[in-house]
Formats: sequence, C-alpha cells, structure tokens
Amino acid sequence: MWRDVAGLQTRKNWRAGWLGALCVSALLAACDAGNATGDGAHAAQADVGSAQMQKVSAGAATVVPTGGQTRAQVYESVRKMTAVGKQLFFDPSLSGSGKLACASCHSPQHGFGPPNALSVQLGGQDMRQQGMRAAPNIKYLQKVPSFTEHYHDSDDEGDESVDAGPTGGLMWDGRVNSAHEQARMPLTSSFEMGSTPQKVAAAVKAAPYANEFRAAFGEHVFDSDDTTFKAVLQALEVFEETPELFYPYTSKYDAFLAGKAQLTKAELHGLQLFNDETKGNCASCHISQRALDGSAPAFTDFGLIAIGVPRNRALTVNRDPHFYDLGACGPERADLKGQDEYCGIFRTPSLRNVALRKTFFHNGIYHSLDEVVRFYAQRDTNPEKFYPVVKGKVQKYDDLPKKYWANLNTDPPFDRKPGDKPALDEAEIKDVVAFLKTLTDGYQPEAPQQHADAHIVSSK
Ligand code: HEC
Ligand code: HEC
Repeated sequence: MWRDVAGLQTRKNWRAGWLGALCVSALLAACDAGNATGDGAHAAQADVGSAQMQKVSAGAATVVPTGGQTRAQVYESVRKMTAVGKQLFFDPSLSGSGKLACASCHSPQHGFGPPNALSVQLGGQDMRQQGMRAAPNIKYLQKVPSFTEHYHDSDDEGDESVDAGPTGGLMWDGRVNSAHEQARMPLTSSFEMGSTPQKVAAAVKAAPYANEFRAAFGEHVFDSDDTTFKAVLQALEVFEETPELFYPYTSKYDAFLAGKAQLTKAELHGLQLFNDETKGNCASCHISQRALDGSAPAFTDFGLIAIGVPRNRALTVNRDPHFYDLGACGPERADLKGQDEYCGIFRTPSLRNVALRKTFFHNGIYHSLDEVVRFYAQRDTNPEKFYPVVKGKVQKYDDLPKKYWANLNTDPPFDRKPGDKPALDEAEIKDVVAFLKTLTDGYQPEAPQQHADAHIVSSK
C-alpha cells in the first residue's frame, strides 16, 4: 500500500516534495515504473511521489480527499485531474479578457516560459496592463523547497550546520509556498488574467471539458463557485507536476551526465568555466552536479540572492523614480517588509531550458544570454556598460537604494573593481553560452562529426 511506502519520509524526500500538498502526479511516476526511462533522476522522483502522497493523505488543500483511497483510486484521480488541468492551462476563457491562458505566458514550446521577447507580459481586461516581472519558466519547480529564512542543506559539503540563508518559495521573491496558492494569483491579478473565482467557475461550467471536470472532482464540484475555483487550482497544480512535461530531464547535459552524449569542445570548456570558482563560479548558485542522492541537478540552489540587476527603465512601474521592486522585502511580498536584509534578493532560477528564453532576470532587462553572462563577468570591472552614467559618474546598482548595498553578493565573479581583469573574456563568455544551450530538453543525439567544424570531446 502506498501508505507504507510513504512511511519513509527522509529529509531528502522533504526537500524534494514540498509541493506535495498535491504533487500527486509524481505518484504516477512511481506507479508508472514501467515507463520510466532512466537513471537516478527517475528513482528519486519515485521517492518524491511517496512523500508527496503522505501529504496528500493529510488532505491539505485537496478538494477530493484522497485519504482512505486505494493506490489505484488515487492513481485514477491523478490521471483525471491531470487531463482537466491541462485543458484549464490552455483555456483563455478563464481570463477576464477571454484572451489570456496560463500557456500565453508559460508556453510549452518555450520551456513553459514566455513565447516572446517582451520584458514583462501584457494582461488585464484590456490586454495592455504590464506587470513588473518577467514570466519565469515553470519547469523543474518540483524541488523548490518551502521558503525559509535559514536553509540547512545536507548536500552542502555534507554539513547541515551551514546556514545558506533565505531559500525557496515560488515566484521571484519566494512569497508563495504551493502551486495551488500560486495559481490563484495570475487568475485574479489585475495585470495578468484579471479574472475572479466567480468568472472562472462560470467558464469551467460552460467549457467543453465540464463533464470531465465533474468526473475528476465529484458530483458536488459545481455546488459553489468557491469549491469549483479550488478544484481549478488543484487541477492546475496536479497538471504542473506531470513529470514528462515539467521535469523530463532530457537535455544534452543530462545525456552527458549519463555517459550517453559528448559535449563539443566549446560546451565542455563552457562547463569548466561555469564550475570554476575563480572564473564564472556559476555553479556555486546554479548547481551543475548530481546531488548526493544521485538526483539530477536543478541548476539552482533555490537561494534568494541580490546580484544588482540594473533597473529596467522600459517598465511602466519604473517611471516613478521612487518605486523599487525590492524582491523579498516588498512591495509584492508583504511578510518581510521593513527587514532590510531581505531587500533586493530574488530566487535563483533554474537554468534548465534558459536558452529558450528571450528575456532574462526578474525585470526582463536583458534579451540575450551573451548580455547576461557579460553582466556577470563585467558588472564590477566595467560598470559603465550596465548602469547609467550621469555627469561622468556611473550610477551603480541603480535598482537598489544604497542603504541595501550590503546585501549584494560579492563572491566571484562579483569580487572585482574597475581596472581589474573580468572573470571571463569574450571567447569564454561565448563558451559559457554554448554550455547553457546544452540545458534544453528534448535532445536528440546526432551523428558525431556531422558538422565539419565540431570538435567532439569525450565526456570521460
Ligand atoms: C500575463 C502573464 C502570465 C500569465 C497569464 C500567467 N503567469 Fe504565471 N507567472 C507570470 C509572472 C510574471 C510570474 C512571476 C511573478 C512574480 O515573481 O511576482 C509567474 C509565476 C508563475 C509561477 C511560479 C514560478 C516560479 O519560478 O516560482 C507559476 C507556477 C506560474 N506562474 C503558473 C501559472 C499558471 C498556472 C497560470 C494560469 C492560471 C499562470 N501562471 C498565468 C506570468 C504569467
Ligand atoms: C551568487 C549566486 C549566483 C551566481 C554566482 C550566479 N548566478 Fe545566475 N542568477 C542568480 C540569481 C539570484 C538570479 C536572478 C537574479 C534576478 O533576476 O534579480 C540569476 C539569474 C540568472 C540568469 C537569468 C535566468 C532567467 O530565467 O531569467 C542566467 C542566464 C544566469 N543567472 C546565469 C548565470 C551564469 C552563466 C553564471 C556564472 C557566470 C551565474 N548565473 C552566476 C544567482 C547567481
């Protein structure tokens, strides 16, 4: 019985399983052992499923209580919810304008990120309202831990006493702790889908999938708008946990880690620079190695960090010179307001599928990976390239008031000053970008030496 399996709640399960109030679909991974194609990543997911099921059995936020059901019943429930969740995700009729679906900003062809190069997406009733943040890729969120101010990671050189600081939570500022709570926000936000629970419920009742929805959530799901709305959130959450869509681990880099693909000379050099503590040092925050339990790297340690991203003056909110998006200390996030040490920090995003994006950082200021990597390499050696220069003086860190500058990260490559040599030169930046492109899912092995100029280097 799944209850027995669920008994083994280890710390790693906890880390991997917080979305668990639902993550029922990870259970499918466990049940579908026959379909699992793979390596440690899948084994880890099966464990996750058990831990998550334990949470489901606690009944948190579920419309259909799963406690007391057999494994087969839960499995069937998950299947039905996933199917309706998918239809909801693509349904623009849930929005106030009737034009915006979750998929409009989180496009499956773009790693479930934005399909265009806009810094922030447009929404609202008139489809003209601008939010203040770039739409993130919503793949590989299944391991994001709940937000905590003091994070202790057993993978941190095996030393759990190290406090890694504020970590986890969904959204750029970590303010939400579950995908069903999260889904409420875009649905009701005035600058996103601009809808209401009533409108959403009415849309679902009128939808071609209304009967399927009732079959998944039971006879009484349409009894009140509130129940219908909660079921919508749950279905979306379950769908967002579909392993083959949201965490397939099918990038070239995954194949490389499994010894099934070779990186080109440029990609391999990029990986070395990415990992090298004296060069990119990227892997110190964007983890590139398997975890101690063998699970595939998420390319983030989920930490909230201030890196001094320049102010994006193209955003409407930033026309007000007194407005600052300070991440965890507000104004979007309310619970840490007034706590200066949280100002300017944003959650480190996964870099999986990052090459499918056309807009980068929380305010969408950059539009190419070259620019992003150059920012890391030269932020402090050539600040004039990134920040405005007023009367000959560079306005460094112009999106963070000076009183919060102590929060800025100063580890390499951010350990330099004007005149120092940048951590990466232009050729090295190119190679790091080549490496980042190996993180895109859906890698199909090619015949080696297909391109005359590709120098193939063995992974071993
Ligand atoms: C108008 C564009 C837009 C639409 C439509 C939209 N989102 Fe988002 N989504 C965003 C933005 C912007 C953020 C980041 C917000 C923030 O950090 O404050 C986000 C964040 C998220 C996150 C958290 C990602 C992370 O890295 O923590 C999830 C999950 C998500 N959206 C799912 C959904 C779902 C489900 C829907 C449909 C109900 C949806 N989104 C509709 C723009 C959109
Ligand atoms: C000290 C931790 C840290 C280090 C080191 C670091 N990053 Fe980041 N990275 C972050 C954080 C935090 C963000 C989000 C910042 C924001 O938007 O305000 C980010 C964002 C990014 C993004 C944008 C992703 C997106 O979806 O918009 C890319 C690309 C990226 N990093 C690549 C790199 C590369 C390449 C390196 C090494 C040269 C690197 N990072 C080093 C913490 C780090």
